[in-house]
Amino acid sequence: MSYQQYMPYFAKDDRYSKMPYRRCGRSGLKLPLLSLGLWHNFGDITPFRTQQAILRTAFDNGITHFDLANNYGPPYGEAERNFGIHMERDFRPYRDEMIISTKAGYDMWKGPYGNDGSRKYLMASIDQSLLRMKLDYVDIFYHHRPDDGTPIEETMGALYDIVKSGKALYAGISNYNPDQTKRAIACMKDMGMHMLIHQPNYNMFNRGIEHGLSDVCREEGVGIMAFGPLAGGRLTGRYLNGIPEDSRAIHDPRFLRASDINENLLKTTRALNEIAAARGQTLAQLALVWALRDPVVTSALIGASKPEQVLENVKALDNMTLSSEELAAIDAILKSR
Ligand SMILES: NC(=O)c1ccc[n+]([C@@H]2O[C@H](COP(=O)([O-])OP(=O)(O)OC[C@H]3O[C@@H](n4cnc5c(N)ncnc54)[C@H](OP(=O)(O)O)[C@@H]3O)[C@@H](O)[C@H]2O)c1
Repeated sequence: MSYQQYMPYFAKDDRYSKMPYRRCGRSGLKLPLLSLGLWHNFGDITPFRTQQAILRTAFDNGITHFDLANNYGPPYGEAERNFGIHMERDFRPYRDEMIISTKAGYDMWKGPYGNDGSRKYLMASIDQSLLRMKLDYVDIFYHHRPDDGTPIEETMGALYDIVKSGKALYAGISNYNPDQTKRAIACMKDMGMHMLIHQPNYNMFNRGIEHGLSDVCREEGVGIMAFGPLAGGRLTGRYLNGIPEDSRAIHDPRFLRASDINENLLKTTRALNEIAAARGQTLAQLALVWALRDPVVTSALIGASKPEQVLENVKALDNMTLSSEELAAIDAILKSR
């Protein structure tokens, strides 16, 4: 994009008029009910202008939290690099209004020190992430997935030191099971630090956290950042009438393939869509309200490929109440899948 084409950004004055914020577990930090993740649509296969429009729309609508990881792209690191450019151009004056997170834990660079949960990997990765994003600190630094091959004291010790050094304000974990979560929280507690947040996958198709994890988080005062509440787009209207060319299943099928959009899925989503329509909502909106129905879930972490999706999703928050009849009907549909 040339300099001439760049339109300066001024955040909307009314950006805090609609979005509710929930306290993240037992902490002082409030997070928006919807957060935006940059896993897809912020690498080198998405036009810069589209990325810019998504980020601006999100911030203008009260989405203050942006979630990244070292290896988001493609290629690895590119989402953080692009986000750094958006920060410089658009968001620098708003840094204190933003919660930016990143993570390390999956494959990132070659050799034995670019993966898993060692102190060596985490310490190097946070420095690389800050450089790419042109930031002095991130708000939340996560260990991205459990690594039973590394002592929990080593991984949590690295998170602790990253927070103590000021490179992150809070520590989090992602994809840890209930037992691993308990051990990680206890380890942090022994060092005198509170685990802020857990980031698990949670949506109508993956209710895993309901079997132990959400109770652990509730008891320990740890917030839940529910990632993938729309099941990558399957819990939206995206695929109800075929597979659009510009959908994830076609243009970036790394984790969602066209073959995943099958008759069985459509039978379920059509039935769910009827419940949504009766509420005056879209399927995406119903899926978000459902994911947020238990306050232990601090925020639903969505992705978006266009600003219109962000707007539709934010509108979900206009009607957050689900009746017991609606919940029972949803359960019955999900059980019959
Ligand atoms: N911790 C982890 O291990 C982990 C793993 C995965 C993700 N995450 C985090 O979670 C974030 C979200 O993941 P996700 O992108 O899979 O989440 P998602 O919200 O379940 O799916 C997002 C996709 O749904 C579609 N969509 C969104 N709103 C829509 C609407 N209103 N109408 C129609 N379609 C809509 C878009 O698909 P199209 O692109 O087809 O338009 C969009 O790209 C990631 O960016 C990342 O920050 C974390």
